[in-house]
Amino acid sequence: MHITSDEKKAESALHQHFIDRGIAVLGAGNMGSALLKGIINAKLTPPQKITACGVHLDKLQKLSEQWKVNHTLNLVDAVQSSEIVLLCVKPQTLPKVLNEIKNSVRSEQLMISIAAGVKISFIQQALGQEVAIVRSMPNIASTVDEGATAVAFGQFVSEEQQRIAISIFEAVGEVVVVQEEQLDAVTGLSGSGPAYVYMVIEALVDGGVKMGLSREVAMKLAIQTVLGSAKLVKESQLHPAILRDQVTTPGGTAINAIHELESHGLRSMLINAVATATKRSEELSKLISRV
Ligand SMILES: NC(=O)c1ccc[n+]([C@@H]2O[C@H](COP(=O)([O-])OP(=O)(O)OC[C@H]3O[C@@H](n4cnc5c(N)ncnc54)[C@H](OP(=O)(O)O)[C@@H]3O)[C@@H](O)[C@H]2O)c1
Repeated sequence: MHITSDEKKAESALHQHFIDRGIAVLGAGNMGSALLKGIINAKLTPPQKITACGVHLDKLQKLSEQWKVNHTLNLVDAVQSSEIVLLCVKPQTLPKVLNEIKNSVRSEQLMISIAAGVKISFIQQALGQEVAIVRSMPNIASTVDEGATAVAFGQFVSEEQQRIAISIFEAVGEVVVVQEEQLDAVTGLSGSGPAYVYMVIEALVDGGVKMGLSREVAMKLAIQTVLGSAKLVKESQLHPAILRDQVTTPGGTAINAIHELESHGLRSMLINAVATATKRSEELSKLISRV
């Protein structure tokens, strides 16, 4: 039986964990507000139990009005009123935020960080106590509920807290669990991946324009081709090479184009891109998480 992605989403929603606990979103920016929206839409916790925190009151007020959540400029108030703390500020801001909240953090709280490159050991040391820490690497597609997130668990994270963290990221897409050391590779693949796919879309549009299509028509076709192809791989669960073979008729258009792509090393280029981004992530992580 063919299961559609909507059916899978509905099935996964049934298994999602009803959290019903206070959640503080420290840094309700692009990613923080995407998670906040996902948590509310998936009914993981009621909006009245969510507190958004940032530095610009006007932005927080808008978010609060739209999603009926609490808001505060005070990090300590947000942490004290919550059981789960989402650390969603920029990596360079995180040390300052951790320093500000460290005396208010309670050992039973769950800290979930999305800050790229900041190690669990760094957060642990900055907070100065044994606390449950989940480190994650979501991607920008979380803002449209199609995110790809990897999570790694610190040593004090209970099974219940693991399920909570997974449910939060499942509310905005797909989740995998990895060892913390693998998060650099995750950054190289899915964290930075949207940038590669945008380049592919842009180039396909230019190809269409070169061959006489209007930019508007080419854009519509390119976007839907990437979206539809990804959906088909996901839903059919067939290897991409099998799907490629299925659309490659002998002597036809696709095999001629594939020959062109192979002769310019498309696959090696993408493999190298992921490897290079992974190395850069390792370098940046060392700089950010010096302990
Ligand atoms: N964007 C991505 O694709 C992506 C992917 C993976 C991981 N991440 C990680 O997600 C995190 C957030 O990225 P983003 O793109 O969402 O950034 P962003 O939109 O700039 O959000 C950062 C938020 O932090 C708030 N903030 C700044 N200083 C603060 C402070 N002292 N106390 C409380 N809040 C403070 C800002 O408040 P104001 O809005 O009031 O200025 C803003 O809302 C980063 O650590 C990044 O590494 C991002």
